[in-house]
Amino acid sequence: MLAGMSIPPTTGRAQSPAIFVQGLEKSYKQLRVLRGVDFEVARGGIFALLGSNGAGKTTLVKILSTLLKADAGTARVNGLDVAEQPAEVRESISLTGQFAAVDEVLSGRENLVLVARLRRLRDPGVIADDLLRRFSLTEAGTRRVAAYSGGMRRRLDIAMSLIGHPPVIFLDEPTAGLDPQARIEVWQAVEELAAGGTTVLLTTQYLNEAEQLADRIAILHEGRIIVDGTLAELKQLVPPAEVEYVEKQPSLEDVFLAVLGGAGDQDER
Ligand SMILES: Nc1ncnc2c1ncn2[C@@H]1O[C@H](COP(=O)(O)OP(=O)(O)O)[C@@H](O)[C@H]1O
Ligand SMILES: [Mg+2]
Repeated sequence: MLAGMSIPPTTGRAQSPAIFVQGLEKSYKQLRVLRGVDFEVARGGIFALLGSNGAGKTTLVKILSTLLKADAGTARVNGLDVAEQPAEVRESISLTGQFAAVDEVLSGRENLVLVARLRRLRDPGVIADDLLRRFSLTEAGTRRVAAYSGGMRRRLDIAMSLIGHPPVIFLDEPTAGLDPQARIEVWQAVEELAAGGTTVLLTTQYLNEAEQLADRIAILHEGRIIVDGTLAELKQLVPPAEVEYVEKQPSLEDVFLAVLGGAGDQDER
């Protein structure tokens, strides 16, 4: 055995990538959702998994967070195999789903204190106040969550995911259904997460969200990762359009449409 439970997850496995996925497959009966997914996420920074509605993003996140078993392939999170060491994986991660998991009856502060207690941390009140400050929720902290806006709930949810300092955080469509202002507030919260050194994998179907936030972007389409790289690398996949001697750099949307078009041509259905 390599490491005991007492070794903090980040030290013993600092050499391994935060996330390693190879040949991952998953079907729901006849529906082949993941057909051999390969990618790697280095430690630190924000990695966006971009895909249309139904592409399989949630399925992939569920497998990585041990909520669902893959049919084939390998997935390691924080150097731990999700199939063989699910309990250790769960200690290394937090998962924030599309629908906020906060308790409406409690205040924002009480929610944070509750989670800190559940994680058996010292000074839950201090932890709660610190997180409220970092996520601009100090004033709202004593109010019931039922009275929060969508953006405030999502920020609280993200703040809760930080309790206990998990090295890897999954955010599944963190801004789905939010208005533009709330979306910007959540983006700031995600940047705050990554600034602390946490590895963030977020899923999104919004191209501008990936463009704004992510250090690296992978596009999941028809069961596979069809491209993976920095925004600059992805943009090089598409030749710049020339408009009256002025080069127009491709947007991520141009890249997305171009690579999806290419993938569709090769598809054998
Ligand atoms: N439990 C399930 N049983 C059957 N089909 C499912 C189940 N979960 C998801 N699917 C289907 O698998 C596909 C991928 O779903 P999902 O991973 O939720 O995609 P995304 O999160 O990218 O929108 C969709 O076609 C969805 O309808
Ligand atoms: Mg989803």
